[in-house]
Amino acid sequence: MLLEGRKISKRFGGVQALSEVDFHVEEGSITGLIGPNGAGKTTLFSIVAGALKPTSGRTFFEGREITGLPADQICRRGIARTFQIVRPFASMSCLENVLVAAVNRHPERPRAALEAAARDLLGQVGLADFADQEARHLNVIQKKRLELARALATEPRLLLLDEVLGGLNTQEIQEAVEDIRALRDRRGITILWIEHVMGAIMQAADRVIVLDQGRVLTAAPPREVVSDPRVIQAYLGE
Ligand SMILES: Nc1ncnc2c1ncn2[C@@H]1O[C@H](COP(=O)(O)OP(=O)(O)OP(=O)(O)O)[C@@H](O)[C@H]1O
Ligand SMILES: [Mg+2]
Repeated sequence: MLLEGRKISKRFGGVQALSEVDFHVEEGSITGLIGPNGAGKTTLFSIVAGALKPTSGRTFFEGREITGLPADQICRRGIARTFQIVRPFASMSCLENVLVAAVNRHPERPRAALEAAARDLLGQVGLADFADQEARHLNVIQKKRLELARALATEPRLLLLDEVLGGLNTQEIQEAVEDIRALRDRRGITILWIEHVMGAIMQAADRVIVLDQGRVLTAAPPREVVSDPRVIQAYLGE
């Protein structure tokens, strides 16, 4: 087991965003994380990645506790995330955006080596021609690709993807699903993936965790999840 959460709760003032959430992610899997708006998916990511501290509960990565560690330490242990709301450093070039992430991970490496790797990553996400342009010139889809390059620059063993398919057409979704599968198949990166595009998640995920109102409704293979009356009810009630 690569990642495990035990009884994670998170309260924001009067809002109970997560209530005793137990979950795990198997090494080498693509695990989907779905649930209606406000279910607590992004909050769970923020807790795993160290951006938020849980009100109670514990998280473990590769068998070691990571609860409450600062985000940069969790990143160095091998967890990277992309953000639902993309936020690159707008006035920095795409290359510099990726470099910031790479330098955080490998401060000891020579700048030239980091830069070459960053350019290579930008090429892999289809942004080779934008390397020296400021990130604010990118459209939303390109910004999401930049996010992915930044996450990959930290050489994660676990990648947390938060709604990366938003705004894509059917053809682009299919390509993105293949790209995400390749991250797992070719690079061995384990993926925990929040997505509202059900077809994509059901096609790519080995296992799907369903959150509803801050609780785990079920965690099962996609085929079982789509036919689960509780899951259908949770979405219909939205
Ligand atoms: N920083 C915050 N301060 C206060 N409340 C918050 C904060 N972040 C999230 N919440 C609340 O916690 C609950 C869970 O939010 P979260 O963003 O985790 O949901 P989500 O499952 O990612 O939803 P979506 O599918 O819309 O992205 C919501 O009720 C939300 O309003
Ligand atoms: Mg969210």
